[in-house]
Amino acid sequence: MSEAIPQVKPMKIMSGCRTTSQLHVGNFWGAVNNWLKLQNDNECYFGVMDLHGLTTAYKSSHEIKNFNRDIFADLVAWGIDTDKNTVFIQSLVPEHIELFMHFANLTPMGWLERVPTWKDAEEEAKASDTHNLGRFMYPVLQAADIALYNGQKVPVGADQVAHLELTREIIRRFNFLYKGKLPEPQALLTETPLVPGLDGRKMSKSYNNGLLLTEDEKTLKKKVNSMLTDTKRLRREDVGNPADCTVFTFHKLYSTDQDLKWVVDGCTTAGIGCGDCKAKLCANIEEKTKIPREKKKELLNNPKALDSIIDQGTEKARLVARKNLNQIKDWMKL
Ligand code: TRP
Ligand code: SF4
Repeated sequence: MSEAIPQVKPMKIMSGCRTTSQLHVGNFWGAVNNWLKLQNDNECYFGVMDLHGLTTAYKSSHEIKNFNRDIFADLVAWGIDTDKNTVFIQSLVPEHIELFMHFANLTPMGWLERVPTWKDAEEEAKASDTHNLGRFMYPVLQAADIALYNGQKVPVGADQVAHLELTREIIRRFNFLYKGKLPEPQALLTETPLVPGLDGRKMSKSYNNGLLLTEDEKTLKKKVNSMLTDTKRLRREDVGNPADCTVFTFHKLYSTDQDLKWVVDGCTTAGIGCGDCKAKLCANIEEKTKIPREKKKELLNNPKALDSIIDQGTEKARLVARKNLNQIKDWMKL
């Protein structure tokens, strides 16, 4: 008797990144890099979530369209396969909003009040004029994003676990109320290194300390040169500690083991200077960025080609979304 070979069933993967600006390196290491690993063996839906972006960026709505295109171009340039997968822009698929409304009705406000991303951000939200209904309901829209494609696994960073928990609660309540069969999605907590800003603090728009995924060569050099080093290593002759250095954090993302050893040995013996160390990092990031940068430029210089990729993605997404929404409305007997 031969033993059955376990069949690994392809899973429905749903994920997205919210449109706030261009993609930065944190987005890549936190999300896109994992999408690349999942995209060949699963049925993947990846959204550029501009409606989520607008919950905080509603005053600069005029910027969103270009950011969407830029993110889309980056995704394609860095290897997201839009033929094999469904890659789309959220606001072009209005079914998200329709399902969101049905979910909003069955979600008690108390559930949202308890979400840490709201609770902890309320003061900041008031100060930045984003203490609004849209931001409050953010996780409900996210639940709709996932359910609309029957998402089973949702690759996200640890900061999204509370949102996923709420998604599951909403879906459980939906299934209970309407005898529905929506799958309860699970967070796929992939290892996502925390990518700091250039100054070692949290990467944030307001600190202006971000590194874009696809910087041009000159800006890349400038930004790497401005990175915070081990503050205790004041002079070239001082030894340093890579563990206390932002440059080293980036080396760990972009450099080979051999280069990492070179940094550790050189830094802890004052064998290399910080300038050498940064030059090496810059070269390693540049090597990884060069081809995608060219590809992205090509796409942005050829708006018709980019439009057509976006249109195809929208069509594919809408087909699935409409079908699932009809099923959902059937369950609700609407
Ligand atoms: N909230 C997610 C983030 O900030 C982005 C997002 C929106 C998302 N809709 C989603 C992620 C659906 C996974 C699934 O990263
Ligand atoms: Fe940081 Fe490199 Fe300087 Fe060491 S040599 S302090 S790791 S930049």
